Amino acid sequence: MSTSAGLAQPSSPEPTAIQQILKVNCQPCHNEANKSSGLALTSRDAILAGGNRGASVKSGSPAESLLVRAIEQSGELKMPPGRKLQPNDIASIRSWIEQGMAWPKDAATSSKPKGADWWAFQPVKRVAPPATQDATWVRNPIDAFILARLEKGASEAFARGAQRGAASQSQPRSRPASSRRRARSATSLPIRRPRPMNAR
Ligand code: HEC
Repeated sequence: MSTSAGLAQPSSPEPTAIQQILKVNCQPCHNEANKSSGLALTSRDAILAGGNRGASVKSGSPAESLLVRAIEQSGELKMPPGRKLQPNDIASIRSWIEQGMAWPKDAATSSKPKGADWWAFQPVKRVAPPATQDATWVRNPIDAFILARLEKGASEAFARGAQRGAASQSQPRSRPASSRRRARSATSLPIRRPRPMNAR
């Protein structure tokens, strides 16, 4: 077998580059949801597990790896179908297998863009209202969130507004049912509402 001339440094093929090659060229047909011929090429374990023909790769031994024969298109099975990988991509995959198939977690195969955990990008979820100490104050689930936050002790700005607000709201039962729950100070002027928790 020939070592590719393109491999100036056979000892360091970039593992994430391998993941990128597989992602672009192979995973459209070999993923968890769509395993062509029973094969997913989305993780080291899946690659080792192989498909209908058995293990697709023998770690450390590209020459004995079905996947390598497939991308070199030296046998009947030719991958990807209808075209051929760049020679340097083939060489990278060969040396990656030779060196034990390093597969960093959370690398290129993750399709999450940077910052994807930012709260605003999360799907809307139904959240159970928190438990509160003073159950009598809570008249609807939103109240529970507010009271839990008050009980926990809020940020200074929040607490200043909320204390006044909560003080006048803490005995809702003593007010007429129709009373609007607008916080008023002794002067009867409306108090500025506390800023919502998420306001920036
Ligand atoms: C367009 C879809 C498609 C793409 C892209 C594709 N494959 Fe495949 N692959 C198939 C199909 C379909 C089979 C089954 C072919 C057969 O059994 O003759 C297969 C079979 C295989 C097998 C044999 C699995 C087994 O155990 O039977 C290997 C290995 C393989 N592909 C590797 C690759 C690699 C590596 C790439 C990327 C370089 C790739 N494939 C890209 C569709 C694809």
